[in-house]
Amino acid sequence: MPIERIEVYLDGGTEPVQVLTQPPFKVTYDTRSLSDGEHLLRVVTHYTNGAKDVKEVPFKVANTPGVLLQGLEEGKEVSGILDVTLRVADPDIKPTRERFPGLAAAIATAAILGGVWLFFAATGVTNKTLEEVAKPPAVAEAGAHGGPVAAVDEALKAKGEQVYSANCAGCHQATGKGLPGVFPALDGSKNVADKAYVINILLKGKGGMPAFAQLSDEELAAVATYIKNSWSNKFGGVTPDEFKAAR
Ligand code: HEC
Repeated sequence: MPIERIEVYLDGGTEPVQVLTQPPFKVTYDTRSLSDGEHLLRVVTHYTNGAKDVKEVPFKVANTPGVLLQGLEEGKEVSGILDVTLRVADPDIKPTRERFPGLAAAIATAAILGGVWLFFAATGVTNKTLEEVAKPPAVAEAGAHGGPVAAVDEALKAKGEQVYSANCAGCHQATGKGLPGVFPALDGSKNVADKAYVINILLKGKGGMPAFAQLSDEELAAVATYIKNSWSNKFGGVTPDEFKAAR
């Protein structure tokens, strides 16, 4: 039975914290935003014929610094970033435009990642599940902008890779390809080519993209230089002074 949408609720909330309408059905929570103790994830699948299926998975949060457990099994203790992939037994899923009502607003730290799994059987099918995989996004052309490209400070870019892993890869992925329909690809993005756009979105945020004004000018210039010159991007460097001037 084709799936219309999957709603994810946390701890008996009446508003879904996420609504997924297309693969990959992946949910990640930063459990550090949850109190230690028992929590409940409720996954409600709505089928196109109006039927629905509810699966509840209790889990325990124990946020011990430095410990990061991934995946979700019933009653398991988790801390740090919690990745949940909903695997569904539905070969007929048709990608549709999705609705993510206030996703980032609801949980600032929520991210959607590739991850370990929550086995999710749609219609009681337990063995014949099908893992839906994100389609690789079309590779955009590199350097798709006209003007001269600013020089790239390689040391700054190397530092930027660390800033990226720590702050950005959770959403945009280490590959820079993001998650289609959820987190935009930075690889091949015209907006990433646009220096002013990158500076602005990092300082101010936009929609589901948090602001990173708490990072130093140097860290921001580093990560901006990294995303503008990694993967297939060759968009030139950004300097700490440019961030300083824009604050
Ligand atoms: C919580 C998830 C999340 C994190 C963490 C995150 N972003 Fe984003 N980012 C988004 C979303 C969602 C958008 C789309 C915003 C919009 O246009 O409404 C976005 C957009 C962008 C864009 C514009 C891309 C385009 O093509 O329009 C850039 C550049 C960007 N992010 C860079 C970064 C960098 C660099 C970091 C780390 C310092 C970062 N992001 C961290 C979610 C995130």
